[in-house]
Amino acid sequence: MNIHSSPEFSSADQRRMFSLLPTSVVAITGVTVDQKPMGFVVGTFQSLSLEPPLVTFNVDRSSSTWPVLRNAGRFTANILANDQIAVSKALGRKGDEKFVGLEHRESTIGTPHIGGCVAWIDCEVLSEIVAGDHFVVVASIHSMLPGRGSPMVFSEGRLGAFADLPAPNATSEGQAPATLFVDRLIDAWSRAWGQGETVAFENIAAATYVRYSRDGKQVRLPDMLRQIEESHSAFSDFRVSVNHTVAEGDMIAIEWRTVAKHTGSFMGVPPTQRDVVVSGASFLRHKDGRILEEWVAWDPRDLLASMRIWHLGN
Ligand SMILES: Cc1cc2nc3c(=O)[nH]c(=O)nc-3n(C[C@H](O)[C@H](O)[C@H](O)COP(=O)(O)O)c2cc1C
Repeated sequence: MNIHSSPEFSSADQRRMFSLLPTSVVAITGVTVDQKPMGFVVGTFQSLSLEPPLVTFNVDRSSSTWPVLRNAGRFTANILANDQIAVSKALGRKGDEKFVGLEHRESTIGTPHIGGCVAWIDCEVLSEIVAGDHFVVVASIHSMLPGRGSPMVFSEGRLGAFADLPAPNATSEGQAPATLFVDRLIDAWSRAWGQGETVAFENIAAATYVRYSRDGKQVRLPDMLRQIEESHSAFSDFRVSVNHTVAEGDMIAIEWRTVAKHTGSFMGVPPTQRDVVVSGASFLRHKDGRILEEWVAWDPRDLLASMRIWHLGN
């Protein structure tokens, strides 16, 4: 086909063809001159440049919201989580009252951060290109904030969630071999406990996750994330290792060890600046790439002993 001739396909054909290409679902939000929140959904938000940090998205020239946000010069890209269908529906259509009932708070640049997103990227509008019936917007990143959950995906006209592919030698249930999950688990474990990235743990745990201790205590996901955060405010310079792993069926056993410096108040004990060592074993039951339950065996007295708060005797 001569590229200068008129296309042999319709807009509907093009739309249908490109619906085969999955996209993210991102709410672009900002405020009017009288501080009223506005927003719309795009499937075209992307990272564009690292040096300097730039992003891009495409918006229809018929959008009534974009001229207002362009005028304000700033917006937030709210990366929607796969449980935010209501947000996508509210902002992905035309209308005046899109924000009614939508929980949001103000960012440091004065734009709305919609509650419950995977991440918020605050941006300043840099330039725009007119490309057919769309504008290609280029913006610089002012700041980025991680949230919770896993991103929503838009594919073939449907909103959904990402799922790992079963590997070629998957079991008859179609589950990826446990070894693949072990790699993801160790990575998430090291990032969560080692760097305090609670979102890494959240991304690999089911919403119904429960951790059982030897004393029968049960800790659910929000408390588990809080425990990780608390340990990172009391200790620093974390070195986390997973020394042994055994995977069998839907169970994984890991033997882990963490070394950190006690630099903040912990259980009422002021910072001792001592290196503490904690080690233990966790038995994890998983399904569909998420940890459902964890049975942990570790001795908190090891921690107190290495802080030299509690001596275990000779
Ligand atoms: C999943 C999804 C992806 C979308 N992607 C885009 C996009 O990339 N560009 C765009 O202009 N509109 C996109 N839309 C449609 C706009 O969100 C919608 O038309 C918008 O609310 C325009 O309304 P406005 O005139 O109030 O700005 C998308 C909608 C959905 C649900």
